Amino acid sequence: MSRVAYVNGRYVPHAQAGVHIEDRGYQFADGVYEVIALIGGTFLDEEGHHERLERSLRELRIAQPMGRKALSHVLRETVRRNRLTSGIVYLQVTRGVARRDHPFPANAQPSLVVTARRIKGPSSQAVEQGVGVITTPDIRWLRRDIKSISLLPNVLAKQAARENKAYEAWLVGEDGVVHEGSSTNAWIVTKEGVLVTHPPADAILNGITRLGVLAAARKQGIRVEERPFTVDEARKAKEAFISSTTSHVIPVVAIDGQPVGNGHPGEITRALLAGYLAGFGLSSGSFL
Ligand code: PDD
Repeated sequence: MSRVAYVNGRYVPHAQAGVHIEDRGYQFADGVYEVIALIGGTFLDEEGHHERLERSLRELRIAQPMGRKALSHVLRETVRRNRLTSGIVYLQVTRGVARRDHPFPANAQPSLVVTARRIKGPSSQAVEQGVGVITTPDIRWLRRDIKSISLLPNVLAKQAARENKAYEAWLVGEDGVVHEGSSTNAWIVTKEGVLVTHPPADAILNGITRLGVLAAARKQGIRVEERPFTVDEARKAKEAFISSTTSHVIPVVAIDGQPVGNGHPGEITRALLAGYLAGFGLSSGSFL
């Protein structure tokens, strides 16, 4: 069956879907996006993604292409037309099409593109054995709280990870603080069993999965500290992991080739994955 994309009011064959060459997303990366997971026909925290999308748009003063209810309908219709039950929906809003000129155009209409595709969840090998990360300087702009489509530093970091046979690259500030991964949030569990992750300041994207994991931690009575941690602290941690819409929770067992803790996925990480999924009535059996 051929894939279908939504582009500015029309459902079109994916292979022929396109926007104008003077779309400001193409010219300036002047836009924002969201990735929402779908498991067994259910979106994971759709409302959270709407809220963050609306916030990103407000921060960049891009008009909302449509209200939340209408957008939700488009997401569902795109899923339906692609006969998808599990996978991801990608949505992107840009400031629209206008002659290339840096200031905001006077009359552009925001562009909205929605695609859906099957993806396998994280592999059972990644979840059960854990993955390695590398560390690399965070060379991004200072508004990482906005889910902007300007992802060049993230692309370079992820490529560096692949070339070093690692799953993810952790982006590190000049002070040695781990901000987050190139497309995931970063976490450690200290020897005292405290869960630590960077606070949701401008330095990181406040992941929707991150919020779900925090809720699961609180429910399980795990002590949580939202504070910066350094690469050094992470190396000495008992456990580490990453979280995102597509990864859920994946244990990190090595940083720059050095084992974290005993080099195996930790108990708290496992419990948090289970707790996070349970928040949606799911277990890892739903996708592994
Ligand atoms: N990435 N940090 C960054 C820089 C991200 O790009 C992402 C998400 C996250 C995790 O956010 P969430 O839990 O809301 O997925 C953190 C998406 C999945 C992507 O770019 O494909």
